[in-house]
Amino acid sequence: HTARFTLDPAFTVGPVDPRLFGSFVEHLGRCVHTGIYEPGHPTADEAGLRTDVLGLVRELGTTAIRYPGGNFVSGYKWEDGVGPADERPRRLDLAWRSTETNRFGLSEYIGFLRKVGPQAEPMMAVNLGTRGVAEALELQEYANHPAGTELSERRIAHGDEQPFGIRLWCLGNEMDGPWQTGHKTAEEYGRFAAETARAMRQMDPAVELVACGSSSRGMDTFAAWEATVLSETYDLVDHVSLHAYYEEVDGDRDSFLASAVDMEAFIEAVVATCDHVGARLKSSKRISLSFDEWNVWYQRRSAEEAATAPLDWPEAPRLLEDSYSVTDAVVLGSLLVALLRHADRVSIACLAQLVNVIAPIMTEPGGPAWRQTTFFPFAQAARHGRGQVLDVRPDSPTYATKEHGEVPLLHATAVRAPDGTVAVFAVNRSQTEPLPLEIALHALELSRVVEHSALADEDPDARNTLADPERVGPHRATGTRLTDGVLSAVLEPLSWNVIRLA
Ligand code: AHR
Repeated sequence: HTARFTLDPAFTVGPVDPRLFGSFVEHLGRCVHTGIYEPGHPTADEAGLRTDVLGLVRELGTTAIRYPGGNFVSGYKWEDGVGPADERPRRLDLAWRSTETNRFGLSEYIGFLRKVGPQAEPMMAVNLGTRGVAEALELQEYANHPAGTELSERRIAHGDEQPFGIRLWCLGNEMDGPWQTGHKTAEEYGRFAAETARAMRQMDPAVELVACGSSSRGMDTFAAWEATVLSETYDLVDHVSLHAYYEEVDGDRDSFLASAVDMEAFIEAVVATCDHVGARLKSSKRISLSFDEWNVWYQRRSAEEAATAPLDWPEAPRLLEDSYSVTDAVVLGSLLVALLRHADRVSIACLAQLVNVIAPIMTEPGGPAWRQTTFFPFAQAARHGRGQVLDVRPDSPTYATKEHGEVPLLHATAVRAPDGTVAVFAVNRSQTEPLPLEIALHALELSRVVEHSALADEDPDARNTLADPERVGPHRATGTRLTDGVLSAVLEPLSWNVIRLA
């Protein structure tokens, strides 16, 4: 019952793009207001940013941060969020049935990224729901043109002398979804995205553009949507987006623990669709994947909450504030493994979202901020998952699931850093049994185990809360040895593991 694989530096998947560890800030619930931004909070800086949250965002190690939505962007006027804060309009946010004060906008977002640090990169979505090419160009010019035009001078007059240098842009959000304000058919959106992309490249040929793929693999239009959209945009865009959220349904934890099986199949289906269009166009260009929304999300619960929510357009309501268990963190770790295993095609991935809204970081208005269970696997992968992904082909015992058939108990990947050290990321999906693991490493010059960190708990439903914010965290696993080129370890039941070797 031992799981085994071999690591050899001659067999790699590809380099990890740092943007694989991206995240997402949407004007939704309390992600912005009382999340990252809360003037008057005891830790707030002069810009109203919560420095306790900034510290946690740095520790999380997130890179590209997508903004301002999500469904929100499809009704958003970017001009509302620039200029003197007390002159900004209050607006209805149709997507989340809230009131948006616009006290936080483009300049505050860029200020936030700059304070997070050099690893944080902007990823800005344009509104292709209620707006179009002209407004996208105006935003691009306001944000990126150095000086000397009406829009760039407006930015300077607003206090931002330096252009924002936004390179990465999303052409709308989930335009295939009937819930999306300004929802379109694939033909309509494909043409619209192509025209927007063409115009944005006229201003700056170096922009990186993401076309909307399907909002989930379960959409009726999935794959046909991507094929149609890419037929219009293939030469004009760099990436196509994927979104996926997973949750435990009807107590079927075995299937939930195998969620990454679905994620990997989704990625492979989108790669096949992109390459099919490329083949038809006789193009040598390869479209990359931007998995710009992914997470565990108890969506059924959110839908029930929405059905009974007051309809009085609240400001910063508590929406989508999922509390994550150890089990959720193990699944999230497995989703990270899935992304890394496809690093040859997935260049961007955004954990949705960053604070309060289905997030690894929680805050209380006026009160503390804390790490959810899901914080730990993300922070560890973002820190140690840098370099070349090695080709890992596990030979593992399996277990039966209702949703995904027979599934390997071990889900694993390994990343080799430029200095030759290796990080193995591994999940044991068994709810009850420890899983012995052996890794043959003869081809690598490794001599010692630096660390074996595990996230597991006697109570798989344990979580960190306002009342008990440090209940769950990773611990050091014992007994892991590297002898004669073979690593041996035991993975605790229902566990996320990081084994670092030097
Ligand atoms: O992340 C929450 C929402 O999920 C986003 O606004 C939307 O794009 C997706 O449906």
